[in-house]
Amino acid sequence: MTDSSMVPLCAPVIEDDEIAAAVEVLRSGWLAAGPKVAQFEAAFGQSVGAPHAIAVDSATAGLHLTLAALGTGPGDEVVVPSLTWPATVNVVELLGARAVFADVLPGTLLLDPADVERRITGRTRAVVPVHYAGAPVDLARLRAVAAGRGIALVHDAAHALGTRYGDERIGAGPEPVVFSFHPAKNITTAEGGMVTVADDELAERIRLLRFHGITRDSWSRHNAGGPAGYEVMEPGWKYTMSDLHAALGLVQLPKLGRFNARRAELAARYRELLCGLDGIRLPDVPPYAHTHAWHLYVIQLEPKRLAVDRDTFVAELKELGVGAGVHYAPVHLHHYYRRRPATGGPAAGHLPVTEAAAGSIVSLPLFAGMSDAQQDRVVAAVRAVAARHRVAAADGPVR
Ligand SMILES: Cc1ncc(COP(=O)(O)O)c(C=O)c1O
Repeated sequence: MTDSSMVPLCAPVIEDDEIAAAVEVLRSGWLAAGPKVAQFEAAFGQSVGAPHAIAVDSATAGLHLTLAALGTGPGDEVVVPSLTWPATVNVVELLGARAVFADVLPGTLLLDPADVERRITGRTRAVVPVHYAGAPVDLARLRAVAAGRGIALVHDAAHALGTRYGDERIGAGPEPVVFSFHPAKNITTAEGGMVTVADDELAERIRLLRFHGITRDSWSRHNAGGPAGYEVMEPGWKYTMSDLHAALGLVQLPKLGRFNARRAELAARYRELLCGLDGIRLPDVPPYAHTHAWHLYVIQLEPKRLAVDRDTFVAELKELGVGAGVHYAPVHLHHYYRRRPATGGPAAGHLPVTEAAAGSIVSLPLFAGMSDAQQDRVVAAVRAVAARHRVAAADGPVR
């Protein structure tokens, strides 16, 4: 049981209409993928401006399917950040391809296009940038890196529901984009994800692989003439979303604007309340025009100013009733990736910015249902823990 006085790191906003929508589906007699999924796909596609929106049971499934549909397999390389949830990277290895890690930029922790370019080889099939924390990566530069080389960009937009790059909604561009509706995300379907795609053939292939490799086309073509009336065109997965989950998404989607506005307000308030606090670096935002989804609020501890390791800092916040988190423990330093044969050099030191950030990042609580009073508690706790460990300033009073 969580202590009810604890300010959680994140929490879904579930209101009476989500509960009513779930009950309606439970009473309808149809629970699996059906009319609610079709409606949710249409509504989501329209909301981001994507020709195709394909609902899946997680973003992990969406990334797996999309890379598979692009033909990623043994002998291929896919460039990924290491500062991400393992799903971004694991799906590459599950397809028999090799994940190649690229570094991030120090202030925003977004994938560094120049480092991506350095990691590209003749075997690079795709680049999977993560719109970390809800800020868009530098798409113009990444597109320039991929263009003309036949390299696909597949966006990991798990954090980027509502994000815009300039005026472009993430999901409306030419590349496939994968969103997550996990309960921690900006809207939720309990579990779930969405792949948006512009290309008709790629969309068809993702749909095929989403459900056992069975096509509706083959259903109509064979018209119950194949074995038991369906035809497996090639082995696929079972990654469909259910109507129960889609019904939640249909209620949550129109609330995204309200939820994100509150997140932006809270992010601005954190900046105002923590600005200038000695030893704490606040998150930078990209220098180009964008709309931030504020999925995460990630501060960095400055080791020269605070004599405390990050895990102790997080533990002490917890003692004060604040559920801080860490996004992420770099994937390239995990057991499998450290031991993976032919990684190409020693693991440590491979990604200097990621590795430096790894020990200093702390995600503060941020969710649409967070009150000002809860945020004030977080701010007071951060100030108190930082004050406990601050190295005396040589040049002025301790703040
Ligand atoms: C950056 C990133 N990519 C992928 C995922 C996977 O999403 P899901 O849990 O919907 O599979 C997550 C989930 O936390 C994530 O944060």
